[in-house]
Amino acid sequence: MTIERVFSGIQPTGNLHLGNYLGAIVNFVKMQETHNCLYCVVDLHAITVPPAVWGGPDELRRNIREVTAAFIASGIDPKKQIIFNQSQVAEHAELAWVLNCIARLGWLNRMTQFKEKAGKDRENVSVGLYDYPVLMASDILVYRATHVPVGEDQKQHVELTRDIAQKFNNDFSASIAAQGFGEAYFPLPEPVITGPATRVMSLRDGTKKMSKSDPSDYSRINLTDDADAIAQKIRKAKTDPEPLPSEEKGLEPRPEADNLVGIYAALAGKPKSEVLAEFGGAQFSGFKSNLVDLAVSKLAPLAAEMKRLSGDTAYVDSVLADGADRARVIAAETMTAVKDIMGM
Ligand code: ADP
Ligand code: NA
Repeated sequence: MTIERVFSGIQPTGNLHLGNYLGAIVNFVKMQETHNCLYCVVDLHAITVPPAVWGGPDELRRNIREVTAAFIASGIDPKKQIIFNQSQVAEHAELAWVLNCIARLGWLNRMTQFKEKAGKDRENVSVGLYDYPVLMASDILVYRATHVPVGEDQKQHVELTRDIAQKFNNDFSASIAAQGFGEAYFPLPEPVITGPATRVMSLRDGTKKMSKSDPSDYSRINLTDDADAIAQKIRKAKTDPEPLPSEEKGLEPRPEADNLVGIYAALAGKPKSEVLAEFGGAQFSGFKSNLVDLAVSKLAPLAAEMKRLSGDTAYVDSVLADGADRARVIAAETMTAVKDIMGM
């Protein structure tokens, strides 16, 4: 019997935004009702880009606390679930090495996120950036997690994790059985990609995803934005001159319109079809006013709570320390089993 266990992570790279919230965190909060969950601040992933990009030691410390605060402020209960920081549990890096020896070079060569992030200057990116998906596989498998709530951009990485898990199970099947683990040691984790906002786009350009690294502050709503900033960004968001369609089909050739409707739907907790049934035929100026009210009502209290928590670093650090202690127990058990299975 496998217990259903959820793992997911967010990088402490600053500028937490609405895409992270609607694509990932909202589902983290939901899944805690039905699953045992581990939510991780993945600092080992953040350092795969140059220090000038992740900001250096002081900023990293601040960003680790900010993501932790976002988890807590969103409603994840740190007593019932495990909120922790990746680098405090050494087994993530340890299992990653083992999985490096399982994963094939050809599999990593197919990862589209690496191609996007590396750009043209491939010879000059860190080896860690290339190996990022194997570390992510380790994050998931070290807890033998069964479900991974993520945005659409992470789907390929979860699929790679399944391939790595499967190859480990196959390569060591006899030993896995001999050690009493039955037919397979690692469960094959499933990506959980649900809701109307699995890929939130930039507010300035409907063809680019909303991202922490976009130089335009108007491209994204940050989770720390106050009501005025949220209102300004939504009012300035790019749209086309047509009114809202009354059916989803009418959104297909209109990425900016589709994005705003998706954001509204996700914030309201409704499908897009219901939003269009209500607003079909309306002009975007009017719809945006409604979106501003909804976004402010959902996000301003979150920002206020994050701000309050940013003043209580002792509490935030205690959540991380307690979470790491609990995570380490599970991770250490996996590492022991993996070594037993492999003869180490
Ligand atoms: P980013 O992609 O902003 O650097 P992370 O890599 O830390 O952030 O991703 C954290 C989570 O947020 C992942 O599950 C990712 O899929 C999700 N996510 C990131 N950007 C978006 C977006 N624009 N729309 C939906 N989900 C997103
Ligand atoms: Na991402």
